[in-house]
Amino acid sequence: MKSLLLIPVIATMLVGGVYLMADDDHYEKGNIKQRAAQLPVSPQQQSYIKECSSCHMAYQAEFLPKRTWAKMMNGLDDHFGVDASLTAKDEKILFDYLQKNAADSKRVGKHFAKMAASAGDTSLRISDTRYFKKEHRKIPQKYIDQKEVKSIANCNACHQKAESGDYRERGISIPNYGRWDD
Ligand code: HEC
Ligand code: HEC
Repeated sequence: MKSLLLIPVIATMLVGGVYLMADDDHYEKGNIKQRAAQLPVSPQQQSYIKECSSCHMAYQAEFLPKRTWAKMMNGLDDHFGVDASLTAKDEKILFDYLQKNAADSKRVGKHFAKMAASAGDTSLRISDTRYFKKEHRKIPQKYIDQKEVKSIANCNACHQKAESGDYRERGISIPNYGRWDD
């Protein structure tokens, strides 16, 4: 009886394990390795991080397609209700940087195609893409609303290494909940 009960447990663990590894691979190939390959950080990326991380972390360009970044950069004077406008020169540098590194850019290749395809045409939010919503659907709302997180757009409240582009499961820790074990 005991050993029979163990079978489904082991099966679940294996399935879980494979899923985790598949996901890890996806991010390692799509992000970390490519980031490592483009080190040292280019002056354009430095400008991007400098200009776009004063109110929230600098979201990786890979999370949105070119068309969404273009729309966002053309409306910085009313950016989610705040004025985030820059000098024309800086705006041009960041515009080019985002186009070059977007989810559907040549540099990023096919790894983020899923993400590019999952962005709608109206919202400018990463958190509104179908891909993002699917990944985060199991998180109870109270952990997002709590004061330590406040908004799902506050990626680094849960993804400890978000700023370096590492979103792997082992780096997730939700305040007042802890490690995420899917
Ligand atoms: C003056 C403050 C400020 C600056 C500077 C700023 N932002 Fe934002 N940004 C916001 C606010 C406020 C939100 C909405 C956050 C929320 O809903 O929690 C936001 C949201 C976003 C989102 C959507 C997050 C989501 O929900 O997926 C993106 C993408 C974004 N900003 C990109 C940028 C980029 C690119 C720059 C640099 C050109 C930038 N931001 C500069 C204030 C700012
Ligand atoms: C409240 C905590 C929380 C916040 C805030 C949050 N995430 Fe997540 N994220 C998670 C959890 C938990 C998972 C794993 C979900 C699962 O596997 O069921 C996850 C999964 C992911 C994944 C998939 C990782 C993989 O290996 O498959 C990505 C990419 C991701 N998040 C990006 C983001 C980005 C970008 C932001 C901000 C715009 C963000 N997350 C905000 C908790 C959070």
